[in-house]
Amino acid sequence: ETPSTITINGKTYPTDAWFNVPSNVLASTNRRLHLQKDHPVSITRQILESVFPRPTFRYHNDFDPVVSTYENFDSLGFPPDHPGRSRSDTYYINRETLLRTHTSAHEAALFSASASDGYLISADVYRRDEVDRSHYPVFHQMEGARVWDRTKVPNGDIAAAVYADLARLPTHNVKVEDPNPPSHPERNPLQSAHHSPAEAEAIAAHLKRSLELMVVEIFTRAKAAAAKQDPNYVDEPLRVRWVEAYFPFTSPSWEMEVYYAGDWLEVLGCGVSKQELFINAGVPSQLGWAFGIGLDRIAMLLFQIPDIRLFWSRDERFLGQFAGVSDNLDLLKRFVPFSKYPACYKDVSFWLRATSAAGGNTGTANAHDFHENDVMEIIRNIAGDVVEDVRLTDQFTHPKTGRRSMCYRINYRSLEKTLTNAEANELHGRVIAALVDRLGVEIR
Ligand code: PHE
Repeated sequence: ETPSTITINGKTYPTDAWFNVPSNVLASTNRRLHLQKDHPVSITRQILESVFPRPTFRYHNDFDPVVSTYENFDSLGFPPDHPGRSRSDTYYINRETLLRTHTSAHEAALFSASASDGYLISADVYRRDEVDRSHYPVFHQMEGARVWDRTKVPNGDIAAAVYADLARLPTHNVKVEDPNPPSHPERNPLQSAHHSPAEAEAIAAHLKRSLELMVVEIFTRAKAAAAKQDPNYVDEPLRVRWVEAYFPFTSPSWEMEVYYAGDWLEVLGCGVSKQELFINAGVPSQLGWAFGIGLDRIAMLLFQIPDIRLFWSRDERFLGQFAGVSDNLDLLKRFVPFSKYPACYKDVSFWLRATSAAGGNTGTANAHDFHENDVMEIIRNIAGDVVEDVRLTDQFTHPKTGRRSMCYRINYRSLEKTLTNAEANELHGRVIAALVDRLGVEIR
């Protein structure tokens, strides 16, 4: 069933037993929505780029999605047993080659190139995940970094140079909550072997202001668009907060959250880059910050797009609404939903194979090697963009046999038309057959 080689964007790779990329995901590798004129993901990229101008920042928008495990994980200090490396989370071409799970995969290479004071990378990224209106196995990230070189700043004084650059940034008047100290000795340590407290604080301050300016720009544009279309629109003041976070390649690290429609939403991750990255890249005198932000989620907020599948649609009722915006960001408008077709819910209940001590590996799912992402992907693989979401509605373990039963509810709803019950049944029948065939479950 697995082809022995696979060609992605003109390059051919050998596959092996690790290969797990379904055809619908492979087919997305050449879409490059972040570069498609007037596409909301591309417009979002343009708005963010406007906050990080050339020549301080260099833009890299066409890095290939196929990277090595070294680039995606090892070069960033991910431990060998990090769960992100597992085949249930990540798409592998072969044991050493994968579809990048984040734009950070390109950090190390860019640090060694070290040709500018900063960079932005926008690209498609790939993760196995659940099925609902805000998850899709392919999405887009923007990575940004700003670096300073000890040998190039006046008197080698990094803190002074960073504060001088900070003083040149615009200010804003958004309410920012930042209750924690900029570092914490256990939870969020500064890299004391490499950075003085003053240096780390200067970099943190520059990072935070830069990223606050980025969300201010986005939300100001989103509000202007909303106000233009809706005379009753009430402008809620933007609220931003910083929370401690952990990434293997930054320390200290933070996440920014934005208060939106009654909830704190995580919008980006960032931190002071681990000095090991610069040392390994052969530029030990450099130091700085990095961030990563998901473009699709931001675009959904910005344009009020209710379903992530719409980004992949070629329907003019969707794409036509953004015509001209890439050339003039002031034309930005919110998405006006076209009629929503009815939902069609179908349930599937099955028993997992009983866990046997003998453990003969037949490739079927027992309670131990069952991964929900496998169910999600089988469904997406068959129903494509007709599946809106998949939810676990019930599970229990039989008291006598110890067997586990799961029930999933699948919502089949096309963005393009009303599905007939016969069409939904046909898809559902194929989903059930594939669950049996590929996971070895027993339908109840
Ligand atoms: N790569 C991280 C993610 O995908 C985000 C990140 C980028 C965090 C850069 C810190 C610095 O979650």
